[in-house]
Amino acid sequence: MRIPEETIAKIKDETDITELVASYIKLERRGRNYVGLCPFHDEKTPSFSVSPEKQIAHCFGCKKGGNVFQFLMEIESMSFAEAAAKLGEPLNIKIDTETSNVRESDMTLIRMHDYMTDLYHHLLMNTNEGEKPLQYLRDRGFSTDLIRAEKIGFAPNMSYFAKNALLEQGYNEETAYQAGLLSRNEENFSYYDRFVGRIMIPIKNHQGHHVGYTARSIDGSEPKYLNTPETEIFKKRELFFNLNDARKHVRKLDNIILMEGHLDVLKVKMTKVRHIVATMGTELSQENLNLLERLSSNVTIMFDGDSAGRNATLKVGDTLLKRGLNVYVQKIPDKMDPDEYIETFGAEEFEQFIQDQQQHYLHFKAEVLRHDAKENDMKFTQHLNSLANDMQYVSDHLTAERLVGTISSIFGVDKQALSGQIPKPVRQETNYAIPEPQRQQLSQRQKKERYVTRIMMVNREYLLEYSDTLDGNVLTYGPYYDIIRGLCAYFEAHTVFDLSLALNYLDPALTDTLIELDGMLIHEDVSHSEINDYLEDLSGIRNSENEKQELYRRLEVAERDNDFELQIKLTQELVELNRTYKM
Ligand code: UTP
Ligand code: MN
Repeated sequence: MRIPEETIAKIKDETDITELVASYIKLERRGRNYVGLCPFHDEKTPSFSVSPEKQIAHCFGCKKGGNVFQFLMEIESMSFAEAAAKLGEPLNIKIDTETSNVRESDMTLIRMHDYMTDLYHHLLMNTNEGEKPLQYLRDRGFSTDLIRAEKIGFAPNMSYFAKNALLEQGYNEETAYQAGLLSRNEENFSYYDRFVGRIMIPIKNHQGHHVGYTARSIDGSEPKYLNTPETEIFKKRELFFNLNDARKHVRKLDNIILMEGHLDVLKVKMTKVRHIVATMGTELSQENLNLLERLSSNVTIMFDGDSAGRNATLKVGDTLLKRGLNVYVQKIPDKMDPDEYIETFGAEEFEQFIQDQQQHYLHFKAEVLRHDAKENDMKFTQHLNSLANDMQYVSDHLTAERLVGTISSIFGVDKQALSGQIPKPVRQETNYAIPEPQRQQLSQRQKKERYVTRIMMVNREYLLEYSDTLDGNVLTYGPYYDIIRGLCAYFEAHTVFDLSLALNYLDPALTDTLIELDGMLIHEDVSHSEINDYLEDLSGIRNSENEKQELYRRLEVAERDNDFELQIKLTQELVELNRTYKM
């Protein structure tokens, strides 16, 4: 490892794993630990556990995680050096990350976007060409600060502007096409700019890299918004616009607001409301949903105040509700969108509006459906039944109680009658029990190996002294052998054992075993002679007769009791004993 150990230890000591993990997923306290839905695999009950004491975050289901570095490496697909660099940043620790873990081909596409983003931005801010679009943005109330911070730009009215600029930088046309920056004439395979005469709004992925654009026309030409096509780095299903900036606010408030428009999000960013993202289209993908679930338990839909927005709200709302999330609606007045709301009423009133008015999704839906039913009795019944059906997904009892009141009064029916129609909840309160790590059935021999490994783990002198003896014949159980090898490397650089630092020296697949070992209580002072005894025993030098006699005795008892299961188990142990000691 090229990064000095002291630096690694310093970064580790000054980074709180709970904080770090909580910036990605929602955590709940459970005793001394925190738990949440694992960000690395799909699950309904949380098996991802964070231990502030041990400074490790680990999934008992898929086994992913580890210390702060490993968590970041996994979740951001980074190399160790990149993870260390990112964690070191706020601590003013500089780390050279010569090798990047983002695929080199992806990095090329990202660099092209970085370059074009700066260029488009420059054009908007400093040239004649940019005057009109800049005025347009100002007229719409976008501040210079925001335009700068978001690096909004302008693609000029030229067919080969981006193409020539990128060629000059040494990129080729084919790559620029794959980046979604150029289009291709399929007849003669010539390339030309995809974005022409449009305001360029850069889109960043969740790590903050520029990966695409949404580009608005300002001369009335269609489409109003032209987006980057699907590329290797721009996958709409996986993206939320602005999530990289919104994430820490979402976590703090345990609430995320979904909007339809990118410019709406940008306008709202000029207010104090920051926990906002836009979907890349009104449909939520499975990937979007998985991510949302991990970010927050409260989702607020704030789509446009027209019929399209209302229909999209119903669709997205149903999906989120069935996912077990608490869903709210921020109902924009007729025919407005968030941007227009702010232009009409001002930032402060908007902030107040967010504070004061969040309607439960089923409250909103009840109003919409009641209005839709008009005087049609059949629709009335159907709508009421569908709401009763939806109620099963509201897991909070007090909320459910209140909603029954609201819905029954909107429909003018008896509360009790409505209650009676609600199906039994499909999912009860989420079960937060963390599955016990699957304890393997260890043989007598493995238990001894485990004990020896445990002693070595906390005792540097012994480990260095015995490291040659502790070979594959003594430690026949692979994980213990591997842990000892990792510990040897660890103790070359460290004097005392630190669970989370030691993980840097081990295959993540061993994390479970190391945690288990770490939890084993042993005597503080183990003597040389005790260790020698164990090692003699394990290396087969000492006679295993006593152990065998004991097994034979228990086998007899098991036979007498007709306990077949025990007989099989004991016989297996005997076979193993004979095999290991070969005497
Ligand atoms: P709207 O037509 O409501 O646009 O489309 P808007 O967000 O209010 O934009 P402004 O205020 O007129 O500039 C809502 C969203 O639908 C997508 C965009 O994401 C847009 O923000 N859309 C709309 C497109 O992708 N392409 C289009 O041509 C139009
Ligand atoms: Mn708008």
